[in-house]
Amino acid sequence: MIMYGTRVINAMVSLVAAAGVLNVLHAALLPLLVTMTLPSAWSALTMARRRYESFHAWVQHARAGRLLGSLLIEPEAAPEIRVHGVGGFLLRHFRAMSETAEAEQARLARLAARTGLIAAAWTGVATVATYATLGGLLLAGAMALSVAGTAVIAIRTGSQSLDTLVVEVNALHEEALFVGDLQRLYTEAAQRAIPVGGRALPENPREIRFENVTFRYPGESARPALADVTLTLPLGRIVALVGENGSGKTTLVKLLAGLYTPERGRIVWDDVDAATADRHRLAERIAMVAQDFKRWPFTARVNVALGRTSAPLCEERLATSIAEAGAQTVVADLPRGLDTLLARNFSGGHELSGGQWQRLGIARAAYRRGSILIVDEPTAALDARAELEVFERIRALADSGQTVVLITHRLASVRHADLVHVLDQGRLVESGPPDELLASGGLYAELYALQAEQFTKPPAPVTPPAPVHRVPAPKAG
Ligand SMILES: Nc1ncnc2c1ncn2[C@@H]1O[C@H](COP(=O)(O)OP(=O)(O)OP(=O)(O)O)[C@@H](O)[C@H]1O
Ligand SMILES: [Mg+2]
Repeated sequence: MIMYGTRVINAMVSLVAAAGVLNVLHAALLPLLVTMTLPSAWSALTMARRRYESFHAWVQHARAGRLLGSLLIEPEAAPEIRVHGVGGFLLRHFRAMSETAEAEQARLARLAARTGLIAAAWTGVATVATYATLGGLLLAGAMALSVAGTAVIAIRTGSQSLDTLVVEVNALHEEALFVGDLQRLYTEAAQRAIPVGGRALPENPREIRFENVTFRYPGESARPALADVTLTLPLGRIVALVGENGSGKTTLVKLLAGLYTPERGRIVWDDVDAATADRHRLAERIAMVAQDFKRWPFTARVNVALGRTSAPLCEERLATSIAEAGAQTVVADLPRGLDTLLARNFSGGHELSGGQWQRLGIARAAYRRGSILIVDEPTAALDARAELEVFERIRALADSGQTVVLITHRLASVRHADLVHVLDQGRLVESGPPDELLASGGLYAELYALQAEQFTKPPAPVTPPAPVHRVPAPKAG
């Protein structure tokens, strides 16, 4: 914007100078100059508007095309591209999308050519008229030859700077349309975020309460992800969130962590509404192993230490966190220990298995030492032994006074929670200690029984038992 702005000022200065000269030479010349340049102004502005509109209409298409292009060469997609033969499918779609995008470019080019032609014809006629006027004045003796020569130079300079002015104003205009979009996004983002520099949260709150919280993801008009949820999270305890897929568990902890603000209702820490609290101080209290936690393409050490970047890296704390997450064996097996780069796309990079990554993710959250630990499906990728270990550690954390908000589908692990909230389709349907919920025979008891059955019921026979062949005993002698 600054660059285009200075160019506009430059062009205006030289235009004013040329116009001044023309005005001194003859009063009829200035309007002629303007008539000569108006068409190019019109065509440039029309084309800019069209380009902007086309950009908006096609931006999703262009992004999808680029996405397909990168999916074709992405290592994570490679196994399915090979085994499921997805490559040809992606390529076909990429080609079809490129063709429609090309057709749109051709349409714009045709329109631009037509507009340009009209503008050029108009300019041509105006130029002829200008020089004819000049010739007429010269022949009629109303203008001296030297003055006419000066006028020609001034007209050429003037029309050149007017052209430049139009081009630059046009670029400025196009840029301003996009800056306007950006401005709208900033405003919307600011409306949705918990503000910075708000109230302080209580030092040692007793509980966090969700009061009639309703939340809908931006742009989703259908059923809200959370509907009128009222529940309490007592601090210093293990609180488990249970419910079927899509019931709103992850959404609830994202609201708790201040990643979103409720559409209706409040989240209060004792008596401070989180929406009015300082966003940074709220985040300060929270450590999170998200369901889709980030696998940073850095070394193992940095992957853990990223839990808290506000303080210098502390080796001792690093070792403790790794032990707490049961990730010592993961680190010990790495070729360069904690200094191993966990990014296969760099030379010397190493890749971890899903469960190994999960342990590093837990170590990262432990390293953060937040007072509220949110773990969303922390054991989904862990083997049976590791799962037990992790839950024992989570229990130990709660015993030491840390609050744990645990989301898991492994209901056997939920038995150790102090309080369980059961969600169903975005609504809270049951709350209470696990034993009471089991006894009351609600959704929790039903899900629990379904899981327990898998271990106790013998599998149903699918095929008739194979006939037993007796191996004849070898004859003696
Ligand atoms: N980023 C998002 N944008 C739009 N809708 C979303 C988003 N994340 C989740 N949803 C929707 O919100 C609802 C609740 O999702 P949520 O992730 O909270 O469920 P969940 O209980 O954690 O499920 P799961 O057990 O599968 O992890 C779902 O219907 C889902 O489609
Ligand atoms: Mg989830």
